[in-house]
Amino acid sequence: MKTEKGIALVDRDDDGVDRAFRADVLNGLRQRDKAVPARWFYDEAGSQLFEDITRLEEYYPTRAETQILQDRCEEFARLIGPDRAVVEFGSGSSVKTPLLLGCISPAAYVPLDISGDFLRESAAALSEKFPGLPVHSVEADFMRRVTLPDAVLPLKKLGFFPGSTIGNMVPRTAVDLLRSMRATLGADDGESPLLLIGMDLVKDRSLLEAAYDDGSGVTAAFNLNLATRINRELAGTIPIDALEHVALWNDEFARIEMHLRARCDIAFTVSGERFVMAKGETIHTENSHKFTRRSGNTLLLAGGWTPVERWLDSDGQFALILARATEQRDAP
Ligand code: AVJ
Repeated sequence: MKTEKGIALVDRDDDGVDRAFRADVLNGLRQRDKAVPARWFYDEAGSQLFEDITRLEEYYPTRAETQILQDRCEEFARLIGPDRAVVEFGSGSSVKTPLLLGCISPAAYVPLDISGDFLRESAAALSEKFPGLPVHSVEADFMRRVTLPDAVLPLKKLGFFPGSTIGNMVPRTAVDLLRSMRATLGADDGESPLLLIGMDLVKDRSLLEAAYDDGSGVTAAFNLNLATRINRELAGTIPIDALEHVALWNDEFARIEMHLRARCDIAFTVSGERFVMAKGETIHTENSHKFTRRSGNTLLLAGGWTPVERWLDSDGQFALILARATEQRDAP
């Protein structure tokens, strides 16, 4: 077993405050339509609540994607082949990654995650299951191009981005990310990396809204935890009890939206700055875009990836897509 120490890349000020978190929250709350990027859900409590979500009856995506990974092992082995460095964008799913790694005989595993603690936990669990596999954890914001550890640079790469996390981004940002992944994986250095990416599919509105507003209130707790995190890490005074969880299907943009809605007029401060919300006003906390075969393909192509194969679960709810980095080519 060989586990490299994580390379710390999160930028903190003298008080230990994550500068990017504070900038995103303050900028987001200053907008007329208040919004905070969904990536900030995942502190330790938020990551645990998300794990709880994945076990909810109403939340089908994790079960569906896991089923695909279980069912298609031989096809992955054939189409991806052995000896690749598997670079996972946002580590942390304790179940899916071993399923993939067990199919393809990788040469190394490189989990990238913004949360160092969570990263170390999942890397340790992984090393236990695959004792001979070199694991190189990198604490990083994968929205930017990441420099991979020297040891994996000579290897062929497979990017792994399960969970339909791509759906959290508006198309413009999703394309930026797909292009960053291309660069991180060395697509412009004469390599032809592969990408295995999960995309949740458009389906009946009632199924989608139930998946994001479950009967036991776990998703509500997950959403509200963002306000708790702001209060703790950014000296906030948000009255949590005055906020309620809302999940709605936006048909125009094919996405579930989560918001925190003020039950009454409220005022609070964050990092010393004052904000007000009128009753009914919301903070937009997450988009979860859903895809069709064509919209998914178009997104990948726009980001520099050519779809190679596509698998669905038995209920046709979720897609796992294998793509190859598209070569630069201007002529048709
Ligand atoms: C982790 C981004 C895939 O959008 O379905 C689950 C997050 N939010 N329930 C999703 C989430 C509310 C999840 N992803």
